[in-house]
Amino acid sequence: MDIHIKQGLIQQEESDLIVVNLFQGETVPAGALKAVDQALDGLISTMLEAGDFKGKLGDTHLFYSRGVLPAPRVLVVGLGPQEEFGLEQARRAAAAAARRARELGIAQYSTIVHGGGVAGLDAARAAQAVVEGSLLGLYRFMSHKRDAAQEEAGGPAAVTVVEVDAAKMDAVREGARVGQVAAGMANLARDLINEPGNYLTPRELARRLRAEAEQIGVQAEVLGEEELAALGAGSFLAVAQGSEEEAQFIILEHRPQGVEGGDLPTVVLVGKAITFDTGGISIKPAEAMWQMKDDMGGGAAVAGAVLAAARLNLPVHAVALIPSCDNMPSGKALKPGDVVRAMNGKTVEIISTDAEGRQVLADALCYAARYDPVAVVDVATLTGSIGLALGRQVAGVFCDDADLRDRLLKASELAGEALWPMPLHKPYRKLIDTDVADMKNSGGRYGGAIIGALFLQEFAEGYPWAHLDIASTVWQEENSAFAVRGGTGFSTRLLLELLRSYA
Ligand code: BES
Ligand code: MN
Ligand code: ZN
Repeated sequence: MDIHIKQGLIQQEESDLIVVNLFQGETVPAGALKAVDQALDGLISTMLEAGDFKGKLGDTHLFYSRGVLPAPRVLVVGLGPQEEFGLEQARRAAAAAARRARELGIAQYSTIVHGGGVAGLDAARAAQAVVEGSLLGLYRFMSHKRDAAQEEAGGPAAVTVVEVDAAKMDAVREGARVGQVAAGMANLARDLINEPGNYLTPRELARRLRAEAEQIGVQAEVLGEEELAALGAGSFLAVAQGSEEEAQFIILEHRPQGVEGGDLPTVVLVGKAITFDTGGISIKPAEAMWQMKDDMGGGAAVAGAVLAAARLNLPVHAVALIPSCDNMPSGKALKPGDVVRAMNGKTVEIISTDAEGRQVLADALCYAARYDPVAVVDVATLTGSIGLALGRQVAGVFCDDADLRDRLLKASELAGEALWPMPLHKPYRKLIDTDVADMKNSGGRYGGAIIGALFLQEFAEGYPWAHLDIASTVWQEENSAFAVRGGTGFSTRLLLELLRSYA
């Protein structure tokens, strides 16, 4: 969908549909709504007096203007209570309007900036939220549907964001641009997550990311198994050895154009990209195994964030490291009891071949040190345990560096992607002690997410580091404001906000 920005009055827009809004409990139309109400000879006031529309967040009501306005249709969208309103509410309202426009089969519509007039809300941020909500809300995964072509054609081709205040135009334009890039990359991550494992092999993931990178001018490098062996990435290769598909270590690097490169901060994002996790010899139960095509969600998110940083030409040196392979059982597969050696020389006894995420991340975290980064953040669908602790909407952040943790929590707030701090509780380190190697890869059921993080910490040496466990947030079971069942792309937008904080 194309995004246009325009200064003017929404009631004067020549569109198939104009979108205005209303706070919950508001009984007298104000602002743009008032102007539209007057043009409609009080029709909106009548509805409010009758109590037929409460302004609940995401509720919509459609009017026909019957020639009194240039636009034939007016959509009022509820913003919820004013005291609860923020960027996330603007996103949700915009998503609801976009979905309604799609249902109506509308080709082009215009919207005001929800929250644009709210005191304390940044105009750029509000415009970003409106564009993000619209694009995220319209997302569908149709690649394998026979009727995809027709259904795709049903969505609106363009939206015009209309701002009345000339002084805010630069902010609105900039915010809309960021929102378009952020949501576009989150949707790319969703596509990659939803793509079945027989299509999205490690090589195919590398091919697609390389193609995206080339288009944007991001440097892409892909290491295969031979190069990984030369690097001593024994932990990563051990996971890959059971599969017919070759492991790929995908490296995306954004160096800003037109900026002196010398003293820019380097931020490395590491993303787990197991294109399918059967559990290996420690095989998973059959019921929900199909969903393990989402086990590359961390890789998708870090790729999306770095590609977005490049699209915005952020003055930061941003690197995505994406170790990718399948985790399969076979006659060549890694076995419980085996010992493997990571790039930093540390040895690991394999207790469960299903704890493969930490094995591939171990080598990638070692590799990250070569960039001399100001921060490294790994993102992984690492443990089922994080879902037991935090549920399906909140991801865990493990970080002992106060500055990096604060940046991540701020980014989380701005993106509306919830994070909660989890402890790197040192005494639990002994739970992965073993007689035969430097550590083992599983320490039992209790505190599983913390143990996974403590394992990774062994390889995150020499730089400030954070680990995000997104195992329970990468996938949603239910449709909601702007999620559709399936991959969420969780953390793509949050990571972009993190990169912006360094820019
Ligand atoms: N990819 C899984 C984690 C996961 C579970 C993601 C559920 C999404 C939904 C990971 O590789 C895994 O299997 N983790 C094990 C670790 C254990 C063997 C130490 C787990 O959480 O059970
Ligand atoms: Mn696993
Ligand atoms: Zn996994």
